[in-house]
Amino acid sequence: MIPTAECSIWLRVAGRFDLTIGELSGQLWLKLSPSVLSADGRPGPRYHGFAHGSLSTGHRGRGRAILHGSNLVEIPRGSLVVPRFRSIPFGAELEQEVLSSGSRLVNSYREHRSIADLYSWVHLLEGLTAPAYGVEDIPRLPEGAYFLKGETNSKKADWFTSAFAPDREALLQVAFRLMADELIGSQKLVIRPFQDYRAIGEDVTGRPIFHERRAFYYRGRLLSEAHYWSGDEYGRPEPLQLESYAAIQAEAIGRVGELAPFLVVDYAEYEDGHWSVVELNDGPMAGLSENSPEALWAALNAAVDSEVI
Ligand SMILES: Nc1ncnc2c1ncn2[C@@H]1O[C@H](COP(=O)(O)OP(=O)(O)O)[C@@H](O)[C@H]1O
Ligand SMILES: [Mg+2]
Repeated sequence: MIPTAECSIWLRVAGRFDLTIGELSGQLWLKLSPSVLSADGRPGPRYHGFAHGSLSTGHRGRGRAILHGSNLVEIPRGSLVVPRFRSIPFGAELEQEVLSSGSRLVNSYREHRSIADLYSWVHLLEGLTAPAYGVEDIPRLPEGAYFLKGETNSKKADWFTSAFAPDREALLQVAFRLMADELIGSQKLVIRPFQDYRAIGEDVTGRPIFHERRAFYYRGRLLSEAHYWSGDEYGRPEPLQLESYAAIQAEAIGRVGELAPFLVVDYAEYEDGHWSVVELNDGPMAGLSENSPEALWAALNAAVDSEVI
């Protein structure tokens, strides 16, 4: 799900500057005046596709740029930094480093935490998403099927042993397994009633693949919306009821849009065509599902540009 050729940080440099873009031994480089920055432009279709969208090799002139790079110390002062895949486990330290170099993160560490901690938003979406329970609630949970995960990650790839519990007995087994897990064990356990989402296929292990969509927002404004599962393996069905999908998007972002500027909402469709929210994700850390990187970053840039600072 993580795009292979995306670098881990991109910056939106504040202000206007002179820039030249070139290519040397397969590396894309950008020269900015007055500051000079070399971007580790790993060649790859996504990278080139995106660079091409706003700037192209050989470009000389003045302008704004979205730059990819991975070296924090090279961030020009006054940049807006989107730390792709970088907030865990050193989010607080990352924020300090970026602030001390005179720039800021698109989502502060506090905003990142308010999304990463499911218990800080699930009540805001009451009625639009499945409720969530903690390990202390297990004794009072009714018989039924459940989905279990850590507050930030699930083990959905190990669906039948570490995510899906068909009944209460299995719930206990999956809970114990997750609490002993190397990755999930340090996260708060989340237990959610299993939802009858619309299945569009199953993976090689027999795990159901549900009809889900991923939407990126900046300050409540939709930037990009796409089919959740990458590739064509499971097809790309249309929502059964477009009005119902449009309605939940408006309602959900109205309730949680202020948690953090750069926010991702995942939606799933039920068998009967109505929609719900699966989870929220930190925009910087969210993988691109079928969302076009060119369209997403261009829309984010335009949204940031239109802000009155
Ligand atoms: N309550 C639920 N009922 C049924 N399936 C679910 C439920 N919650 C999540 N899923 C399925 O499991 C997948 C992973 O769950 P999610 O909460 O998004 O965890 P992750 O942090 O791994 O993305 C979802 O994309 C969806 O397909
Ligand atoms: Mg998810």
